[in-house]
Formats: sequence, structure tokens, C-alpha cells
Amino acid sequence: MGKLSGKRVIVIGGSSGIGLCTVRALLEQGSQVVIASRTSERLERAASELHGQVETAQVDVQDRGSVAALFERFAPFDHLVNSATGGPRASGPFLQMDLDGFVGSFQKLWGYVHSVHLAAPHMQATGSIVLVGGALSRKCRPGMSAHSTVGNAVEGFCRAVAPEIAPLRINVVAPGLINTPMFEPMGAGRHDFFSQATSEHVIPRVGQPEEIADGILFLLQNEFITGTTLDIDGGSLLP
Ligand SMILES: NC(=O)c1ccc[n+]([C@@H]2O[C@H](COP(=O)([O-])OP(=O)(O)OC[C@H]3O[C@@H](n4cnc5c(N)ncnc54)[C@H](OP(=O)(O)O)[C@@H]3O)[C@@H](O)[C@H]2O)c1
Repeated sequence: MGKLSGKRVIVIGGSSGIGLCTVRALLEQGSQVVIASRTSERLERAASELHGQVETAQVDVQDRGSVAALFERFAPFDHLVNSATGGPRASGPFLQMDLDGFVGSFQKLWGYVHSVHLAAPHMQATGSIVLVGGALSRKCRPGMSAHSTVGNAVEGFCRAVAPEIAPLRINVVAPGLINTPMFEPMGAGRHDFFSQATSEHVIPRVGQPEEIADGILFLLQNEFITGTTLDIDGGSLLP
């Protein structure tokens, strides 16, 4: 039996993309999983794809009351994964960017801050938290300054709180470009975008959400790792 067998894990953002793949991997390990996100239809679709093996809960990470109610409902639990984008994020040349858009991009950070603050009191001491950051934090592409700044804040937040919430552990996984439903609005054109955006990477292809889920499970299980960021990005940070 693996370390995650029988453990109760809450995955916020578990109805899509990286979160949903993480849920599949957790179920394979025998975890009891709760998936949470804003849209009931997405939650129901995910639960049906997973053959009803998960519990679902509607939550908006911006609404502290709903986040607190989520954790109270499923307490005590072992692990928390938060991959929620949190809301719209702004992109474009910094000097032309709408500043409200830049500020609004921090909804992702505030969602993570809310979830860690409100979850920790309900978690088993042996538990851990994984937040999903992004490789843009340390290698910003033109037009992505808001994403990059938020990503740095997520990594800094993790390092800052890790000593205070110990023995609970907290880590960040920082994906490169990953093929998830986030890019579906781009239609078929997303495949050209993926090829162009990754052509200079050491591993020149878009990543798959399963490859990020692998890293998340590693961070949940390794009991000697906290306050760190795991890069899974096809070597995109290298020169
Ligand atoms: N895909 C990439 O290339 C990539 C690269 C680097 C980092 N990331 C990061 O990885 C994480 C997951 O991205 P993804 O590609 O898997 O995106 P995705 O497929 O769009 O999934 C996002 C999930 O977050 C949920 N969510 C969004 N806002 C929420 C809120 N306010 N409250 C609760 N749930 C919320 C969504 O459900 P609802 O909309 O129903 O709430 C959905 O389940 C994000 O933090 C993203 O920034 C992604």
C-alpha cells in the first residue's frame, strides 16, 4: 500500500486540467478525494468521468466563507492541492496594460493565501499542501509580466509560510506550458502556439497535465521536502 492510500485529499481546481489529472492519479493510489471549484456543471462532468469515485463541493477561492465551509465540511483531512487559476489574468505589454487587469491577476495568489490559512487548522499534522505556480515566474516571456509577478509571489508565499505551518509541509510545482482546457478558447490554433512557444526549450514540446500530476504526487509523499518549488517545464528555464 502506498503512502497516499486511504488519505483524504482536497483538490481545489480538481474539475479540469492539472487538477483533474492529479485527482485521477490520487484515485489510482487509493486516496479519498474531494474536488472543489466554482462551476457545478464542470464538477458534475468531472465526477461522472471519474465514475463517481469523488465527492464534489462548489467553492470560489475568492469567497473566504465558501473556502472555510469547504474545509469544515471535510475536516479532518490529510492533503490539499490548489490549482485554481482564481480568475482572469491580464497579459500584454506592461506599459500599455490596464492596471486593474494587472492587480486582478493576483486573484490567484489571494485564492492560495485563503486556502492555506483556512485549511491548516483542519489538517492532520502529517499532511501537506501543494500549490500550482508557473515557470513564467523565473523566465518571463514578453507580455506576461503579470503572470510572472504572481508566480514569484506564489513561490515566495510558500517559502515564507513553510516554517510557520510546520510540521505541515507546503510546496509549489511550477509547470511550463501544459496542454489543458485553459487553452481550448484558442481552438485548433493552440497547437501552432504550443509548437512555437516551446521550440527553443530543451524538450521542445508542450507538456501534458499527467506530467505535472506526477510531480504533485511526489511532493505530497516525500516527507523531507517543504518550502520548495519543483520545476516541470521541459527545461524551459535553461538558457
Ligand atoms: N496550463 C498551463 O500551461 C499552465 C502553466 C503554468 C501554470 N499553470 C497553472 O496551473 C493551474 C491549473 O491550470 P490548468 O491549466 O489546469 O487550468 P484549467 O484547466 O483552466 O483548470 C482550472 C481549474 O481551476 C478552477 N478555478 C478557477 N478559478 C477558481 C476559483 N476562483 N475558485 C475555485 N476554483 C477555481 C476551475 O474550475 P471553475 O472555473 O469551475 O471554478 C478549474 O477546475 C493554474 O493555477 C495555472 O495558472 C498552468
